[in-house]
Amino acid sequence: MMITRRGFLRLIGGSLFSMVSLSAYAVGIEPMLLTHVKRYSLTPPNWPAGLRLRVVALADIHACRPWMTPERIASLAQQVNALQPDLIVLLGDYAAGTRLVTEWVDSSEWAPALSGLRAPLGVWAILGNHDWWEDLSAQRAGVGPTLARKAIESAGIPVLENDVVRLEKDGHGFWVAGLADQLALRPGKAWGCSRFKGLDDLEGTLAKVTDEAPVILLAHEPDIFPKVPSRVSLTLSGHTHGGQVRLFGFSPVVPSRFGNRFAYGHVVEENRNLIVSGGLGFSILPVRFGMRPEILSIELGSA
Ligand SMILES: [Fe+2]
Repeated sequence: MMITRRGFLRLIGGSLFSMVSLSAYAVGIEPMLLTHVKRYSLTPPNWPAGLRLRVVALADIHACRPWMTPERIASLAQQVNALQPDLIVLLGDYAAGTRLVTEWVDSSEWAPALSGLRAPLGVWAILGNHDWWEDLSAQRAGVGPTLARKAIESAGIPVLENDVVRLEKDGHGFWVAGLADQLALRPGKAWGCSRFKGLDDLEGTLAKVTDEAPVILLAHEPDIFPKVPSRVSLTLSGHTHGGQVRLFGFSPVVPSRFGNRFAYGHVVEENRNLIVSGGLGFSILPVRFGMRPEILSIELGSA
C-alpha cells in the first residue's frame, strides 16, 4: 500500500498527538486527579469474633511540588478522616522519591500536613527507605532517629520502628507492630557501606507481643512477607507503587526481588494475608499509568 505524503504527515502528527496525550495523562491526570479509595474486607484466620475494625492506610506519599504539595496532603488527611477509620496507619516514604520536581517539600512542611489525621485508636506510622536515604547524617551514623521520624513525632504521630503497641476495641485487644525499614542504609563510600542494609528486626519486634491477641504488621517493603509467621493476622505494605505502570494485572517494573508476586493488592499465601498498597506518589519518574493513587480502607472481621 502506498502512503501519500499527506497521509504520512497525518500519521506522524497523530502519533505525536497520542504520545503527548498519553504523557499528559500519565504525568498530570492520573497521578494528580484520580486518587481513589481502594477497599478490602477480610477476616484473617483466628480473628476474634466480634472484633470489627476499619483500618485506613496511606502509603508512599512522596511529598514534592507540583505533585504532592502540603495542601494536597492535608486534603488527603481530610478524605481519610471522612472514611471514619478506627485506626489510621502510615506506611512510610513521606519524602520525595525523585529529583524531577519543581520544588522539594521538606519534612517541616509535609509532617504538619499529616497532623490533621484523626481516629479513635490513633494514627501510627512506620518509615520507608526514602525517609532514611534523605537523611545523610542518619546514613553516616547507621542509626536514627531520622529527620523524618522527628518531624512525624512533632506532628503528634508515634513512629514504630521494630516496636509494637497494644490497642483495644469493644473489649477486644489487638497489636499493631511496625517494622524498621528493610533498605534503610544504602551503599555509599562516604559512610563505608557497600550494600543495602536493613534495620528490620521481625523476630525482636514480634517478641514484644505478650499475649494471644491478633497482630497487624506494618512493613514498608513487602519482601519480608515470606518470613512473616502465621501468628500475624495481616501484613500491610507499600513501597512498590504497584509498579507505577500496571497493565492487565501486570507491572513491568517492580522494586521487589519477588517481581510481581507482591507488586500490588491482596496476596494470600499459606493462609497468611498481605495487602500491598499502590500508594499515592511516585519515585524515579513522575509517572503513573493504570495504577491510580489510592487510600487503602480495610474492614477486618466483617467478611
Ligand atoms: Fe519505598
